[in-house]
Amino acid sequence: MRYGLFSDVHSNLEAMTTVAHAMKTEGADEYLCLGDFVGYYSNPVETIELIESLNCWKLILGNHDAACIGKAPLSKFNPPAAEAIHWTKARLKPQHYKFLENLRLHEEIGEIQLVHSSPFQSEEWHYLTQKEDIERNFRYFQGFICLFGHVHKPFIAEQKPDGSVEILEAQEYTLKKECRYLVNVGSVGQPRDGDPRTCYVMYDSASRKLSIRRIDYDRETTIKKTLEAGLPEYLAQRLKTGK
Ligand SMILES: [Fe+2]
Ligand SMILES: [Fe+2]
Repeated sequence: MRYGLFSDVHSNLEAMTTVAHAMKTEGADEYLCLGDFVGYYSNPVETIELIESLNCWKLILGNHDAACIGKAPLSKFNPPAAEAIHWTKARLKPQHYKFLENLRLHEEIGEIQLVHSSPFQSEEWHYLTQKEDIERNFRYFQGFICLFGHVHKPFIAEQKPDGSVEILEAQEYTLKKECRYLVNVGSVGQPRDGDPRTCYVMYDSASRKLSIRRIDYDRETTIKKTLEAGLPEYLAQRLKTGK
């Protein structure tokens, strides 16, 4: 099975269109999306509808999605993010709210676990960036691999049979049967690792090969639409640097 994995689209239609096309071209059999469909950018309706058209096998609730339906407090959002949530809520129609209401915090497919933020206290929306936090989170899921998003920086963390954990630099990697993995699939709509290109991951469960993909998309259009919509300029600016 070839999985197309993606997360943190944040209503960036240009990036999602590019990623959807790329995953299809690579022959993805199934799609898994790890949350934060909306928030930040100007096409929440079109983005939800495009993702619905992919018929993803599993979809996860992100904190921005949860904020739109009153399941996460806006007090934890910085001002531009909160402003974008208010902007988004005014544009979603009942069917889009229903789509967000149906999302869950956890899903699993056999040996694959899916969460938005972290296996430990998923509903608290922790950011798994520190090595000690990543190490600790291996205790909070069962199975071979846990896929997540939320931090907008792709990486592969490998737990060896002796319990030690290594953060791998590789963009392409064959997962080892005897190890366990936490994999961040990066962000489609707002990368923050200094690379402004959009991000998705392909995973072939037969060969266990995992590939982090970065590709260019029409950022200039997204930036223009963000400013024209009256959304915070900061949100447009950070698309240029990927930070
Ligand atoms: Fe996000
Ligand atoms: Fe998030």
